[in-house]
Amino acid sequence: MTNTEALIHELIEKHGKNRNALMPVLQGVVAREKFLSEDTMIAVARELDLSAADVYGTASFYTFLDTKPRGRNIIRVCKTISCHMQGKEAIIRAIEDHLLIKVGETTHDNKFTLLTANCLGWCHKGPVMLVNDEVFPSITPEKVIEIIEEFAKKTN
Ligand code: FES
Repeated sequence: MTNTEALIHELIEKHGKNRNALMPVLQGVVAREKFLSEDTMIAVARELDLSAADVYGTASFYTFLDTKPRGRNIIRVCKTISCHMQGKEAIIRAIEDHLLIKVGETTHDNKFTLLTANCLGWCHKGPVMLVNDEVFPSITPEKVIEIIEEFAKKTN
């Protein structure tokens, strides 16, 4: 049994062998492995008696469930209306220029992946970004570079 298969078993034991377990199982895999490979999705489908399309559909609907390998730090800039109106475009541009990647890409050193996200629930303090699990409200293009540099220093 591979490590991933063992992890899937462990998660299913914990959350139950039924459809309701799908989200927590996928989240558990992403928490450990950072993304969901096709093999993983097929293994989850087999274990929960679901179709692979069903699992893939769920994973791609929830953008938090990455289906591609990602960098060690995941930056997510909120793209929803309040943050859009509060300048999220300038934030994204500053990050893209600084890291030399576009949204959806990962830096060559694998330190960062840049993504967008739907409303993060901090609309009154936009623009907002998440780096991994940490929320950064009221960011500016300057502040965002400082934050990213701090993460870069902490990441080998
Ligand atoms: Fe960005 Fe709600 S619109 S946090």
